Amino acid sequence: MATDCDCAENIVLIGFMGAGKSTVGRLLAQKSGRYFLDADTLIESEAGRRIDEIFKKEGEHAFREMERRCARWLAACVRGSVISTGGGMASVVEHLARIGTVVYLKLPWEEIVRRLTPQERRKRPLFSDLKEAKRRFERRRNLYETQARLIVDASRPPDEVVEEIIRNLPNVS
Ligand code: S3P
Repeated sequence: MATDCDCAENIVLIGFMGAGKSTVGRLLAQKSGRYFLDADTLIESEAGRRIDEIFKKEGEHAFREMERRCARWLAACVRGSVISTGGGMASVVEHLARIGTVVYLKLPWEEIVRRLTPQERRKRPLFSDLKEAKRRFERRRNLYETQARLIVDASRPPDEVVEEIIRNLPNVS
């Protein structure tokens, strides 16, 4: 960690699958003296199952309920962290600003497809059907923009994305 933060406000990263929320989040946490939390990992550890197993056994509806619960806990109990959300959290949870400052990592569809290797796609049940995934991407775009306080071009290398976030959010570092 760069510095200890005095229970600073959380930073919440949103964006579609493959936008680099975890990579950027970890780096941003190091640079801003925060801890890094990944909402999907929290859900997996609480459920004792991987996301793909939750989808297979309980379905998307149950997963979305887990996301809502996780968001309530984050808003009530967590400070001083960078939090990466699953790509759907911004569309199932209203007012993510209750958790912290919301930053949208924006990427064009073609770049998302390029980044998600077959191995990465296997972890993401909603990316198995490319046409349907693109429809989701189109549906969510406005929602991401509406929830975000800051929108950054995430097609650049992670360290540049982090620099831009820090430059644009005066209270971050
Ligand atoms: C989802 C995105 C995934 C994960 C789940 C559903 C979505 O997270 O939460 O597979 O609905 O876009 P990532 O954005 O980290 O891939």
